[in-house]
Amino acid sequence: MEPRTPSETAVTLTQVMNPEHANPLGNVHGGWILKLIDEAGSIVASRHARHPAVTVEIDSVSFREPVYVGNLVHVQARIVRAWRTSMEVEAIVEAEDPLTGERRITSHAYLVYVALDRAGRPTPVPPVQPETEEEWRKWHEAEQRRAERLARRERERLSSR
Ligand SMILES: CC(C)(COP(=O)(O)OP(=O)(O)OC[C@H]1O[C@@H](n2cnc3c(N)ncnc32)[C@H](O)[C@@H]1OP(=O)(O)O)[C@@H](O)C(=O)NCCC(=O)NCCS
Repeated sequence: MEPRTPSETAVTLTQVMNPEHANPLGNVHGGWILKLIDEAGSIVASRHARHPAVTVEIDSVSFREPVYVGNLVHVQARIVRAWRTSMEVEAIVEAEDPLTGERRITSHAYLVYVALDRAGRPTPVPPVQPETEEEWRKWHEAEQRRAERLARRERERLSSR
């Protein structure tokens, strides 16, 4: 399969935060942000694989700063690395005050997706071809994150027996 670069499949999703996304003080619920992160990640993974992709892991997500009603939320998602059937995607969340243009990074996450064939089985995906120094650095670091996830998955499997 031909490798694909991260920039070929990267997306930015933008959504305005309305009162239904927030508590009575106007702070947006973290769940809405997570939903946007997962939507953006899933678009990137399925564009890379050219197959539907399901989420198998979302690494810990912190909400470093509040997002308020009226803010625009931008989620930038890019593929980092692909293995046989799984792919790691990075998501960066920024909140923008549309009246001042001020932007703040509010969250960051790595997610893992698996491409599925028509029968719902994991199916092979193309490799990622990093282009920039930063993309190469993250590509190398991804192997360690994968090892940690798979070790955690194995511990959970053993403890649920
Ligand atoms: C995706 C799914 C079909 C994979 O099934 P599985 O039995 O784990 O299949 P495998 O063991 O062959 O794993 C498939 C790939 O996922 C990777 N993987 C599975 N769990 C993982 C995890 N927790 N973290 C990182 N990678 C994981 C495997 O390493 C393998 O990667 P590779 O082919 O690139 O080497 C199954 O886990 C599933 O259906 N999960 C639910 C997904 C879903 O519905 N998500 C939406 C939220 S409800």
